[in-house]
Amino acid sequence: MDGFDFERLLSTRLRRRGLLVGGGALTGLAIATQFSSRVVAQPRFSGYPFTLGVASGDPLPDSVVLWTRLAPDPLNGGGMPSVNVPVQWQIATDENMSKVVLRGTAITTPELGHSIRVVVGGLQPDRWYWYQFKAGNEVSRIGRTRTAPAFGTPINQLNFAFASCQDWQNGYYTAYKHLAEENLNFVVHLGDYIYEYGPLAIGPRQHNSPEIVSLSDYRNRHALYKTDPNLQEAHAAFPWIVTWDDHEVENDYADLIPEDGQSPQAFVNRRANAYKAYYEHMPLRAAALPKGADMRLYRRLTFGDLAEFNVLDTRQYRSDQPCGDGFKPRCAEAFAADATMTGREQEQWLLQGLSKSQTRWNVIAQQVMMAEYDFVAGSPEIFNLDAWDGYVASRNRILGFIKDRKPNNPVVLTGDIHSSWVHDLKTDFQNPASPTVATEFVGTSITSDFPTAAIATVQAALPENPHTKFFDGQYRGYVRCNLTRNAWQTDFRVVSTILDPNASISTLASFVVENGRPGAMRV
Ligand SMILES: [Fe+2]
Repeated sequence: MDGFDFERLLSTRLRRRGLLVGGGALTGLAIATQFSSRVVAQPRFSGYPFTLGVASGDPLPDSVVLWTRLAPDPLNGGGMPSVNVPVQWQIATDENMSKVVLRGTAITTPELGHSIRVVVGGLQPDRWYWYQFKAGNEVSRIGRTRTAPAFGTPINQLNFAFASCQDWQNGYYTAYKHLAEENLNFVVHLGDYIYEYGPLAIGPRQHNSPEIVSLSDYRNRHALYKTDPNLQEAHAAFPWIVTWDDHEVENDYADLIPEDGQSPQAFVNRRANAYKAYYEHMPLRAAALPKGADMRLYRRLTFGDLAEFNVLDTRQYRSDQPCGDGFKPRCAEAFAADATMTGREQEQWLLQGLSKSQTRWNVIAQQVMMAEYDFVAGSPEIFNLDAWDGYVASRNRILGFIKDRKPNNPVVLTGDIHSSWVHDLKTDFQNPASPTVATEFVGTSITSDFPTAAIATVQAALPENPHTKFFDGQYRGYVRCNLTRNAWQTDFRVVSTILDPNASISTLASFVVENGRPGAMRV
């Protein structure tokens, strides 16, 4: 969804179409690619090389991914010479890096934009670690990360936050300043980490280049976003678990179908560029290394016996949006049995994972709103066809499976729509008496816009959507979740404004899901 394109709803305007793989677990040795072999052991940089901060991600009980990228000139291709450069890393059990438990050297290459991905193994479960990089005579800041609890071990509590949609042009990332100060085990990002558009004079800061298409365009855009000090703080404070939505490539793309105006081959190339730059800038495991325009991003992470996260990719494999996309009444295509949001393989993977899971909470971390929502009071019913409302059979298969197989406490986490929502997920949304089988929390954006003019329209439709327990379109922020064995609490954390870097944070609303009882209650 673009800047939550509510003009589409309000005017019913129709749109469009018609490796460096990780170091060995203990040695940290990395493998350079075949394309360049010259290693400059003592590089001289044109400026400080760690301008993009540090990050970690995808925590397992014994390992985490550490990330940085050498970029002395981050907005202009990085500013690195076209040679391989070694980077030393170390990980410690104290914040001063005095108790180092592992260290190694990774080789950064021009092919991966001098990004660094170190998969550190041999760690202890469920504990904090601190890490740091050194290249030449320059050292990075110290980052903090945390391993997951051991598989199956009893866990009494888990804290995390989820975020999405951070259009640079719309405001400041003050939400991340506050998020970095929370007490969290990890952060989940549900997509729209970057936006692809050219500069727009809509907010306090602008993109520095036209709409991005080439690999260097996407690299420079990721670099621009990563120069933000608040985003850097949030990455340095916790491991992140990331997935993408559409704007990491292009608004509302579906599989290999672009939004508009591109030949099929041009879009394949564009998607390959976008995926590669995403991989280079995120603390992902090497299994995600893209192959051309394909990249395996969906994956599962487990936290003791308390929670399992199924992280979905609802862009790369979906069928085209039905009925010409947009906000409008559903045509027959929206109910087509062969329409898919996930692709068949990912759907089977998800259902199998849910049926086998042993954890107390089962999370589906994904992009677009799963609950039905009729956006306009009265008739006709108006749906967002880019969300699961355009893929009704696909949604019914998943919610029907949950009803039949009853995995423990399914909770769906969603981004995309730049506003806060709580829904009961039902087997038949048209029948309020049908069973609630899961709970959905939709987080607002970090900065991306939700048009003020649309708020009243959505609110007026609430009585026609009785499974929707909460909606707010006014505030930006993130969502904090506290899980225990008996309850899941969700706090919608919002900043007072995105136009002031010193904005304050507060809790807009809190909801609780009790163990064994799908659906959220306001507290
Ligand atoms: Fe977005």
